[in-house]
Amino acid sequence: MNIPLPLLHCLKDGDCHSGEQLGAHLGISRSAIWKQIRQLERLGLKVRSVPGLGYQLDKAFIPLDAAEIEQALLKAGFSLPFRLHLFQVIDSTNRFLRDSPPFEGVGICCAEMQTAGRGRLGRAWHSPFGENIYCSVRWRFSGDISALAGLSLVVSLAVREALSAFASNEPIAVKWPNDLYWQGKKLAGCLIEAMGESNGGTEVIIGIGINTNADSAVDHGFHTPWCALIDLALQPLCRNTVIAAVLVQLERALSLFSEQGFSAFHAAWERFDCLRGQAVTVNRHTDTLEGIASGVNALAQLGVRDGTGVIHWLSSGDASLRGEHLK
Ligand code: BTN
Repeated sequence: MNIPLPLLHCLKDGDCHSGEQLGAHLGISRSAIWKQIRQLERLGLKVRSVPGLGYQLDKAFIPLDAAEIEQALLKAGFSLPFRLHLFQVIDSTNRFLRDSPPFEGVGICCAEMQTAGRGRLGRAWHSPFGENIYCSVRWRFSGDISALAGLSLVVSLAVREALSAFASNEPIAVKWPNDLYWQGKKLAGCLIEAMGESNGGTEVIIGIGINTNADSAVDHGFHTPWCALIDLALQPLCRNTVIAAVLVQLERALSLFSEQGFSAFHAAWERFDCLRGQAVTVNRHTDTLEGIASGVNALAQLGVRDGTGVIHWLSSGDASLRGEHLK
């Protein structure tokens, strides 16, 4: 996909720029500018044509910037060696890290847009250009995969903690096993894919998608109501800053998780769990269970009390509040 980045950088301030000035600045004709404006629109960016004045983005655009993310990480004390890969367009940041050669440190991949973003349970993850955060991290744990029960909950709590610093009002909630919700609407989701065990360790890809600056008033026809961080922060966010904040929290959480396991996070989960005490439906591979969500146990399994009072402990599934369209 062809992205006219020099033109986008000229327009990113959100001011109006004449076709003539843009053409002179970029050394191309006005009709070439017009063609590139159409390309930006095809990416989903909204460009206003102001008669007699020129072109203007409907809102200022803050691009992803590898140097800015790296500096913010170092400043905030991210301590492990890392390698950051930044793409304008990629199929999936999870897929990229999965297929990249091993690296003695943390592999990080971010993109402005994903053409085949992956969600949980084989769903697609809507990944339009320039609006949101699509970030994956390749992390190596010592020990085998059985020690990783609870990892997805820990990741959600880490992302929750980071995003809370940008939110001014109501708390962000976690929804088992790895979603973030705010006011009953999905704010972010995580997709964890194990790469398998080798040399006594286990590598995982942790994919994090955060609705960031997207306009949640736009109906994309999703089956889940959704919101974006901008709805909580009440101002557009610099995604570089948010990504760095998330990665710093992730490093802290994952090192504590490696030392102490899920028990160190149990209380925090209970505090922010939006399902606890609610009537839920959990879709599993083979069946559907209805009951009252009763928190998680030490293995990070979701407890669901059925009509007879029996608690079922679930390791996987897709939970929704009954009567509400909360995925
Ligand atoms: C979900 O809630 O279903 C999980 C969504 C995870 C989306 C992220 S975006 C970055 C990374 N790359 C992907 O292809 N998926 C994850």
